[in-house]
Amino acid sequence: MKILYIFFLFFSIGLFSNLLFAKSDLPGKDLFYNSKGKYGSCNHCHVGGSSAGRWNFETMSIDPDEGRKIPILKGIGKRKNQEQIERSIQLMKKLFDFKLTDEQISQLAEYLGSL
Ligand code: HEC
Repeated sequence: MKILYIFFLFFSIGLFSNLLFAKSDLPGKDLFYNSKGKYGSCNHCHVGGSSAGRWNFETMSIDPDEGRKIPILKGIGKRKNQEQIERSIQLMKKLFDFKLTDEQISQLAEYLGSL
């Protein structure tokens, strides 16, 4: 039994440090793919930093021709500074009900600026 316990302990430590590592590694990237808004993560609309098409605010779904164009985020760091990107993310937070702290928003902005 003891060996099982030790095995479990090591497993848990491994899992835990893995999670910690992923977070501290690139927190903004993690947030981009895993933070949950009303309509999924950022990646749901800005697929891999690209665009899923248009967002139809009437049907609240991705639409090939109707609605607001979902911008491609790759290269946004060349068009906008950190503060402007943060302002856009604040807007996303309001529109799509993301639970994000100011710190997380600046981490996201930093990640987007690197795309
Ligand atoms: C439901 C679809 C959807 C989700 C989810 C979403 N976005 Fe957006 N995003 C949009 C749309 C649509 C626009 C364009 C808004 C406009 O034109 O006013 C936009 C605009 C932006 C912009 C401005 C881009 C530019 O070129 O100025 C940024 C930055 C951005 N989103 C980041 C994010 C981040 C970070 C998340 C996750 C926290 C996120 N978005 C989640 C649909 C989405």
